[in-house]
Amino acid sequence: MLELVNLSKSYGGRTVLAALSHRFEPGEFVAIMGESGVGKSTLLNLIAGLDTPDGGEVRVDGTPMTALDDDAATRLRRTRMGFIFQAFHVLPHLTLAQNVALPLLLNGSPDPARAMQMLDAVGLAGRGADFPRQLSGGELQRVAIARALVHRPALLLADEPTGNLDPETADGILRLLRAEIKASGAGAIMVTHSHAAAAMADRTFVLTRSGLK
Ligand SMILES: Nc1ncnc2c1ncn2[C@@H]1O[C@H](COP(=O)(O)OP(=O)(O)OP(=O)(O)O)[C@@H](O)[C@H]1O
Ligand SMILES: [Mg+2]
Repeated sequence: MLELVNLSKSYGGRTVLAALSHRFEPGEFVAIMGESGVGKSTLLNLIAGLDTPDGGEVRVDGTPMTALDDDAATRLRRTRMGFIFQAFHVLPHLTLAQNVALPLLLNGSPDPARAMQMLDAVGLAGRGADFPRQLSGGELQRVAIARALVHRPALLLADEPTGNLDPETADGILRLLRAEIKASGAGAIMVTHSHAAAAMADRTFVLTRSGLK
């Protein structure tokens, strides 16, 4: 369902990705490792259509992301994708319950019970009325994880989703993440520096200057 074809990206004349090609298997949970600055977050942003490639393309179900107009790309992201960003992007003026429920609301299928269930699942039961400023970094990350999974996306994109969690919490969260995507048949691409996290995936690739290996 997801294919990278000769994907290239440079910033200020410096090449980050050079003619990267790869086909992800449907329903596969993939971990991507690689040294800091090699372009892992850049790659996730290109896959999400949040950044545009200089060359090549990202194809979702055979359709190049660049062939979609803004509305269609937004619709694709909202209905089919879930994101856990390296910097959370939890909305400060919404409560935790509202943050987690947001994807369902944007999709026109509000389901407060499902949002509550996801908050429980990430260990934040009873905190739904709290605001993000009242949370620790690890708790915020768990809110971001609940929000990314709440609408059962077909593709989950996760950038270092357990980077701020202690090993035990991280393990629990990754088990939840894996259970959720396997239950819905979703694919997932998780960028991580943690070998323990990568071990939860079906396959691990390393991103280097010469591609995904
Ligand atoms: N918007 C931008 N403008 C200029 N340079 C950028 C931009 N985004 C990323 N870069 C550069 O592209 C390179 C790859 O960045 P990226 O964030 O993809 O790395 P990464 O592999 O995710 O690293 P980390 O493991 O530290 O998160 C870096 O050298 C970074 O400075
Ligand atoms: Mg990164």
